[in-house]
Amino acid sequence: MSIGVETQTRRVTLEDITNLCLRRGFFFPSGRIYGGLGGFFDYGPLGAEMRRDILNDWWTYFVERREDIVGIYGTIITHPRTWEASGHVESFIDYIVRCSRCNFEYRADHLLEDHGVKVIEPTRENIARLIREHNIRCPKCGGILSEPEAFNLMFTTYVGPKKTRANLAYLRPETAQLIFTNFKNIVFTMRVTLPFGIAQVGKAFRNEISPRNFLFRMREFEQMEIEYFINPKKMNYCPFFEEVKDTEIYILTAEMQEEGIEDARRITAKEALETGIIENEWHTYWIVESLKWLWSIGLKPEHLRAREHVKTELAHYAIQTFDIEYYFPFMGWKEIEGISNRGDFDLRRHQEFSKEELHIVDDGEKIIPYVIEPSFGLERIILALLTESYHKVQNRLILSLHPKVAPYKIGIYPLVTKEPFKGKAREVYRMLGTKYRVFYDEKGSIGRRYARADEIGVPLGITIDGQTLEDNTVTIRFRDTKEQIRVPIERLIEEIDKILNNWL
Ligand code: GLY
Repeated sequence: MSIGVETQTRRVTLEDITNLCLRRGFFFPSGRIYGGLGGFFDYGPLGAEMRRDILNDWWTYFVERREDIVGIYGTIITHPRTWEASGHVESFIDYIVRCSRCNFEYRADHLLEDHGVKVIEPTRENIARLIREHNIRCPKCGGILSEPEAFNLMFTTYVGPKKTRANLAYLRPETAQLIFTNFKNIVFTMRVTLPFGIAQVGKAFRNEISPRNFLFRMREFEQMEIEYFINPKKMNYCPFFEEVKDTEIYILTAEMQEEGIEDARRITAKEALETGIIENEWHTYWIVESLKWLWSIGLKPEHLRAREHVKTELAHYAIQTFDIEYYFPFMGWKEIEGISNRGDFDLRRHQEFSKEELHIVDDGEKIIPYVIEPSFGLERIILALLTESYHKVQNRLILSLHPKVAPYKIGIYPLVTKEPFKGKAREVYRMLGTKYRVFYDEKGSIGRRYARADEIGVPLGITIDGQTLEDNTVTIRFRDTKEQIRVPIERLIEEIDKILNNWL
């Protein structure tokens, strides 16, 4: 496959996206009046609407419309033993190096990558060796760097008034563990049988050494995760596999990466399974199903690929992992979702640490199920959507967001800002407002109003003009083509429904 040419000609920069977000109210640095706090961003009014739409659409797609997935909403702070059992206390670390002259701290593997050095196996010894071999110094002052030190990424706090070790707690670094610790509750209360999934959306926190690239690496972010539980003997019995087997996906295997191949291959799900690239049916199914959702909200198939983790990259719990990566023109292929086969690691560990039995009965046998985990990063998906839809056309910015995720669906404009145009436009605004997220704009020339709406991705504009007063019709303007059609007001909702429901 060669998708280099098209992707490389997309000219949007991270600065373009950041500027748009700040200027139009998608995101703001948190605590901006005090200079901001690195790695924390507040959603502005437009970002908040986008967030709501994405979360709702995800929940409908993966939970509501399915019989085999239920949802939970767990706490951010939970029993600290959770994180000992999960392995995060011991293994959720990155390495820091400190400048001996200016004391500035760097995440060691990022520093190496910034110098063009790929860190295949990020152990303390390897990192120290690579820094020495490449003679890497402090980028700020040229000082000598310290030996790498392990740094745990979990934020800590204390529960109750005493600040003692016994009261130490963690802000969750992933939502996943709340699902595992609730496994028994769900099995007992919801009468679920294997295979089934538990979904959760919510905040997660990671004290990143060097947060960067705007929404990409944040310290507080939101995850949308599913833990899907399967009898280990039935990893190749996915009843939904038929639905996805012929779907083509771009895939980059660990083996290809080890051979230095950078371009993904386009193959069907069936081929990926039969050639052993993806180890089992359920994992294959969840990769395709995730991609289908990402396509449905407006990310192009050729800008998404499933990249397998090479052995040294695998998390401590993973048997096989694929990252769904999006091609960002300004930083290359980056993960927006991970899909891991976690085996029975988590339930076994919680069973061991809690002494509670965490099995389920399947075919008359007590089973500790295996888990396939699709784990989506909400803000990374938003960054991908903004990147995908950012177009400069003759110096005009058009954000071609899919209507499902556009902050406003429709703008309503009186052509002339006086009565009776205004009154009629307010009437249309009230009518459409009962069904869609709409806004009313009467300020400035109609061209400027369209332009303002185009750059925040409003798919449709309704204009009340002279003819409206004569025959009760309005125009619908399409953001991406600037075409207009004329529709009687009494058929407006029906027409808009048709347009939005058939949007590609
Ligand atoms: N639950 C997987 C992750 O947070 O990366």
